[in-house]
Amino acid sequence: KKSIIIDCDPGVDDTLAILFALGSPELDVKAITTVCGNVPLEVCTQNALKILELAGRTDIPVHAGCDSPMIGEPIFGKFHGAGGLGKLVLPDPVTQPSPQHAVGKMAELLRAAKTNNEKLTICTLGPMTNLALLIKLHPELLSSIECVVSMGGAYRIAGNRTLTSEFNMLADPHAARIVYSAGLDYVALPLDATHQAMTSPERVSWFKGGEAGSPLAATYELLSGWSRNDPRRYGSDGGPMHDPLVTVYLVAPHLFQTELAKVFVECDSQLCYGQTVADWYGQTGEKADAQIVQKVNADGVFSIMSERIRSLSQA
Ligand code: BDR
Ligand code: CA
Repeated sequence: KKSIIIDCDPGVDDTLAILFALGSPELDVKAITTVCGNVPLEVCTQNALKILELAGRTDIPVHAGCDSPMIGEPIFGKFHGAGGLGKLVLPDPVTQPSPQHAVGKMAELLRAAKTNNEKLTICTLGPMTNLALLIKLHPELLSSIECVVSMGGAYRIAGNRTLTSEFNMLADPHAARIVYSAGLDYVALPLDATHQAMTSPERVSWFKGGEAGSPLAATYELLSGWSRNDPRRYGSDGGPMHDPLVTVYLVAPHLFQTELAKVFVECDSQLCYGQTVADWYGQTGEKADAQIVQKVNADGVFSIMSERIRSLSQA
């Protein structure tokens, strides 16, 4: 089993990524940590609790993290509604987040892993603020990180929030720069990949049939409301499945093709603030340490998602 921490800002697609992980026996979710992103921190944290209650997994702790980026003011998402879950309404949670800060919990889990000679994979589905802080506070624990698998960035494709920049990177580029300079192993799921995994009426129909109040029914509702009606940008009317690609990658890496490169993040330019730039050809001489996903088997992704989230509803 792969032990993971899911650092996220739920978020419609964060929710799907989490449900997929919970339905996957290959993954052991040690904690869900939240960060300011699509919606303010408190809303992300409440949503994380709601999702775990929906899936009957209140044994997994939720820890709130940073409520703003390292520098500057927060920006919020545009496609998730004020409550962060689109049109989906989930009951108010009866559970509480743990009092410990997200970064403290990450450190605690990494320390425990170190003692046991194990490693943890950190998944980031939102701005990288919490992970950047962990790197600054606990450099001695980084050797216990197996890999950082993240949704973020736009390389050979335009940005989705500005001309050049993807939302998670734009929301905290300084954090992303710290993360990608730390010499860890990275897998990046940028827009290059996520725009290949578009919803379509057929793919969404694979999630039909869940009982009211089940994870499957919630997923169907979220997917049904995710269309963008912007075929010029996406090649179809559907919506891109961003965050689930992270957890699907962990379980089914054969559905993805990557290219190895060093990643740089622009923090100084006005026009290109938050842009991710890859050194594809080794021009800088810096060590290539990021596997950047460039190709996705989209039917494969939606099919395993429906299988796993269905199994969660039957459990
Ligand atoms: C990313 O931004 C958020 O809106 C999504 O949850 C995803 O993590 C896509 O740019
Ligand atoms: Ca997200």
